[in-house]
Amino acid sequence: MCGIVGIIGKSAREIVLNGLSKLEYRGYDSAGIYLNDLAGKEFLTKTTGRIQDLKNKMKPDEQGQVGIGHTRWATHGKPTEANAHPQFDETKRFYLVHNGVIENYQDLRKKYLNNASFKSDTDTEVIVQLISKIAREKNVDALTALKEVLTMIKGSYALLLVDNQHPDHIYIAKNKSPLLLGLGADFNVIASDALSVLDQTKTFVDLHDGEVGDITKNGYQIETISGAQVTREPYQLNVAEDAASKGTYDFYMLKEICEQPGVLRHLDQFYLDQNGKPKVSAAIIDALAKADKLYIFAAGTSYHAGLVGKLLFEKLTKIPTEVGFASEAGYHFPMMSQHPFFIFLSQSGETADSRVVLQEAIKRNIPSLTLTNVPESTLAREANYSMALEAGPEIAVASTKAYTAQVAVQAVIAKALGEKMGDDAAAAFKLKQNLALAAEGIEQVVSNQEKIEQLAQKDLIPSRNAFYIGRGIDYPVALEAALKLKEVSYIQTEGFAAAELKHGTISLIEKGTPVIALINDPLTADLMRGNIQEVVARGANVITIVNKSLAQTGDDIILPEVDYFLSPLVTVVVTQLLAYFAAKDKGLDVDKPRNLAKSVTVE
Ligand code: F6R
Repeated sequence: MCGIVGIIGKSAREIVLNGLSKLEYRGYDSAGIYLNDLAGKEFLTKTTGRIQDLKNKMKPDEQGQVGIGHTRWATHGKPTEANAHPQFDETKRFYLVHNGVIENYQDLRKKYLNNASFKSDTDTEVIVQLISKIAREKNVDALTALKEVLTMIKGSYALLLVDNQHPDHIYIAKNKSPLLLGLGADFNVIASDALSVLDQTKTFVDLHDGEVGDITKNGYQIETISGAQVTREPYQLNVAEDAASKGTYDFYMLKEICEQPGVLRHLDQFYLDQNGKPKVSAAIIDALAKADKLYIFAAGTSYHAGLVGKLLFEKLTKIPTEVGFASEAGYHFPMMSQHPFFIFLSQSGETADSRVVLQEAIKRNIPSLTLTNVPESTLAREANYSMALEAGPEIAVASTKAYTAQVAVQAVIAKALGEKMGDDAAAAFKLKQNLALAAEGIEQVVSNQEKIEQLAQKDLIPSRNAFYIGRGIDYPVALEAALKLKEVSYIQTEGFAAAELKHGTISLIEKGTPVIALINDPLTADLMRGNIQEVVARGANVITIVNKSLAQTGDDIILPEVDYFLSPLVTVVVTQLLAYFAAKDKGLDVDKPRNLAKSVTVE
């Protein structure tokens, strides 16, 4: 993962540090910055911890007109100061920040760098030492040395390199990890994510895999590793600078939870006309209509949204739909139907596991569609088709509004496809009305925050573990609810198809174990009540989250009515709030849970 920022042509320190702060969602276990004032002075500061720790450590005179910085999510080597980036070569001529993983770094080190003295355990140091060795031994410039090293390394990288013999250049390269060049007047910036430098420019140029660039304050040149010049039109990014600000909320997670009614209303306007007819590109629907089976690939929360999507697609289109972890499918490709169609769900559009599957789909000529919150992302660019989630920037590491947007956009596509195929259920599906009901329902849930906070304080915080149970459409929601609670509060939580609990796991239920039951399915509501009694008999402390039409006296949270197939949009919000309050009231850093990063660009 990791986030990188570089700037050339402007006082660099604050811009790099501010950019890195906005990239902390990509990793936050250590950080570093290299500055060069172009008059012979250079500064390198690295630290464990966060960008604030880096700021605290820097002296006032550390300034430069060129700067590169890095916030790290450790892959190779522990989060120590020595392993933080920028990494440098033994002659201290080259400074490098890197996001990605070099798979063959140990082989390269053994083969070419046996005599070099290493300061870190990172794969990145191998790159910078190799660049230095080639530049020295072959007497070539930094860009030539960099390009040669790129032909030797296997893996993913977005990297920025400064050569202190020619510090008025930043050399950049990209393969699989995201990297953007931002253009300014008499300066240029480079970053992992546009949001981090939007206060500097809104004009960007994408770098594609296998490309390198030579960036100066007044210009830039992009070429392929083999030396072919690349010309690419810059584009304007229309995102408000404050779209990524926390406003009056304590944490982004709460802000993003509360934004969900607005997201659904916006999606209604964006993807449905006045009469509720879906506005989806005919090319996408035509391509989907040719499929005899849909395959949804994703990871984590997006995978859970895909499980809800499967139910929507099968209900409204009757096309069998399979959902897979991208990380598994990449190396154990599922058996294909005659006419498969792949749908990728990814908030970030950068998840490396999903990209492996997409590459395989491209090789096999399988048509693909990416649903992502970042329309400029790699998965959006590389799939045949892409559709935007339109949820606005999601900054908290734990995904909330992107999940609801993924469910809603899948509902739009399923309805559009089903209608095209003449499916009665699709024609009868009142998506517009139900999106409005879901938006109102979420507002009701959010206004009931106090009750939800009390439940989190009384029943969840004192416990080391918890279970979510559900049947039918509540089962995938139970999986998502469990992921959310455990990732932010560190309470070990599992989601279960309610009846499965008694096939083994019920042995873990003890006096006071929280079991949170989700009940939206009229078909199995009575069976759910039976499953609740089974755990109550073993001492569980049960919290019920129940649709109004199925509620009984004593239920804890009553959910407003929404079509069964869209009920996850509302149910999930209660579980997001339970997770939020469990983490916040434990005093944890809700937006940046330990060990995590938002955009998982390593496999
Ligand atoms: C959990 C969470 C992760 C992501 C997963 C996939 O709250 O955010 O599980 O859902 O890493 O990320 P995207 O959707 O960016 O592909």
